[in-house]
Amino acid sequence: ARIGRLAGRKIVITAGGTREALDPVRYLTNRSSGKMGFALAQAAVELGADVVLVTTNSRYKIYGVREVLVSSTRDMHAAVLHEFDNADVFIGAAAVSDYRPVEAAKDKIKKKSGENLTIKLMQNPDILAEVGRHKTMKQLVVGFAAETQNVLEYARKKLIQKNADMLVANDVSTTNSGFDSENNRVTILSRDEDPEIISLSPKIAIARSIMDKIAKKLA
Ligand code: PMT
Repeated sequence: ARIGRLAGRKIVITAGGTREALDPVRYLTNRSSGKMGFALAQAAVELGADVVLVTTNSRYKIYGVREVLVSSTRDMHAAVLHEFDNADVFIGAAAVSDYRPVEAAKDKIKKKSGENLTIKLMQNPDILAEVGRHKTMKQLVVGFAAETQNVLEYARKKLIQKNADMLVANDVSTTNSGFDSENNRVTILSRDEDPEIISLSPKIAIARSIMDKIAKKLA
């Protein structure tokens, strides 16, 4: 059995950028590396939690973390809903594609000379919002927000709209933090506390601060 402040707690974390297939060889994605999600998984096992990482890549192996490899938003959505059922905490650190191509072509799309190609996109499910709708009084839901402007205002809206307990806002307008960086700069918004600003720090340090807050809320 594990020891630590989160022993006996199940934490489901998402990491990475989802991929939406255009055809068998191409996809739409974003710049998320998964580093923030992996750092959160590391910080959670350090406190003794049972961790399930639903991720789009398996770049690191973390001892004690169960990895569920997914690709599209719909895969991630199904895996998260399945795992959240008996979980204590959900943390959405993945950058999830809001849209996907209406249909993925069965065969490789061929170039037609001189013609533009139009791709029609449709909305994906919102994983965080759905988990927020389904959570019980005992379950905690933590979202992230990647913004390039009006960071706090948009983050506060997401906290409320997605019925989360905590929302971690990162300003991704600079290159030394946020996507694919070793560091991040965040503000943690909670429903019942003042915002906490964490200046530029390694993602693992930020992950440990977030996990400390979660452990306090669960206690
Ligand atoms: O992976 P790294 O390179 O380490 O970078 C980390 C990060 C910048 C990707 C991460 O810290 C981060 O901010 N993740 C959230 C990025 C994002 O998609 O933000 P958003 O504002 O679009 O979404 C808000 C929240 O809703 C997020 O928790 C997201 O996981 C969730 N969401 C969004 C859309 C959707 N269809 N389903 C969702 O669950």
